[in-house]
Amino acid sequence: MPDTPRTVDAIDTPAALVDVDRMHANLRRVAAYCREHGLAWRPHAKTHKTPELAVEQVRAGAVGVTVATPREAEVMSRVVDDLLLAYPPIGRAKLDRLMALPAGVRLTVGLDSAEALRGLAEAARAAGRPVGVLVETDAGMGRVGVQSAEDAVALARAAAEADGVEYRGILFYPGHVRERVEQQGDAIRTLSDRLGQTLEALHAAGVAPSVVSGGSTPTFWRSHEIAGLTEVRPGTSIFNDRTTSEIGACAWGECAYSVLATVVSTAVPGQAVVDAGSKALSREEIRADSTGFGALLDRPEVLVKAVSEEHGLLDLSRTDWRPRIGERVRIVPNHVCVSVNLHERLHGVRGDDVAHVWTIAARGR
Ligand SMILES: Cc1ncc(COP(=O)(O)O)c(C=O)c1O
Repeated sequence: MPDTPRTVDAIDTPAALVDVDRMHANLRRVAAYCREHGLAWRPHAKTHKTPELAVEQVRAGAVGVTVATPREAEVMSRVVDDLLLAYPPIGRAKLDRLMALPAGVRLTVGLDSAEALRGLAEAARAAGRPVGVLVETDAGMGRVGVQSAEDAVALARAAAEADGVEYRGILFYPGHVRERVEQQGDAIRTLSDRLGQTLEALHAAGVAPSVVSGGSTPTFWRSHEIAGLTEVRPGTSIFNDRTTSEIGACAWGECAYSVLATVVSTAVPGQAVVDAGSKALSREEIRADSTGFGALLDRPEVLVKAVSEEHGLLDLSRTDWRPRIGERVRIVPNHVCVSVNLHERLHGVRGDDVAHVWTIAARGR
């Protein structure tokens, strides 16, 4: 590992920066909302993939963390003893890795098929390890999740009856709700009604869920409008990003993550080129009514209008600022989780000082 830089000036670019004070403020805001509304907070660790930051989340009030992969589960299990794998574990290799997690870790798994349930129950029985099950229901995203209340009841019953696992409830992810926060009313009502039908059917069938796990960063601040919800799993909200700000789920000044980059060319009029391209920011697109792959933290009117692997092209058409070669900028990417995954380390900064260098231990596949 290279020497630890003490100041931001000493960090080579491109590099991932976290404004530590903003991050803590984000955690405090989310924790306070959950306390106010009686919701358990189980943040998704896929955003930061960094055990030290999972520790900060638990310190701030999280009941445990959510993970998406066995690798994230392994890394987070070193520091957190209550994990939810919100992804169906299919195949021997993944099941073996889950069963090998430290015995003291309380493990819950979300799944949406009888096949996944059977595999998990067999593995749990063979390992002699208690594993909780949440039945995943499709809240409207159309990605995974059982499609009807009847199917939710059938899988919940199967989970309640299966030897080796313990049925704990249901899980959904409202990833399809991407309107601005103040325009989410209809979508949230539809989601809440649909969930209500499922909850009613589960109660009537004698498989009432003790956990109803949902939540996302875009819908986070309206989670209390979803009847029956007991737990929320926001990921992005620890750092926020350009999409979160555009949706109105955070202020621009609450973006805690940025990619530090250096201006390497101003040869073409109207633009400046930085050394952060798709390999540092990612090529994730933004919502339909916006363009670009990121914006400057200190000059949000300056967009990254195009990226190739090592080049980010800053659009100077809406600014009088004319950067010098060698000048450094901080770029807020459209989608923070995928940008973090491209870096090896997070630099936790306070002003111009580097307060922490964290290894992103759960990155990769
Ligand atoms: C199943 C699941 N839960 C929670 C999250 C967290 O979402 P967000 O980053 O919008 O808060 C994700 C993100 O992809 C997810 O896939």
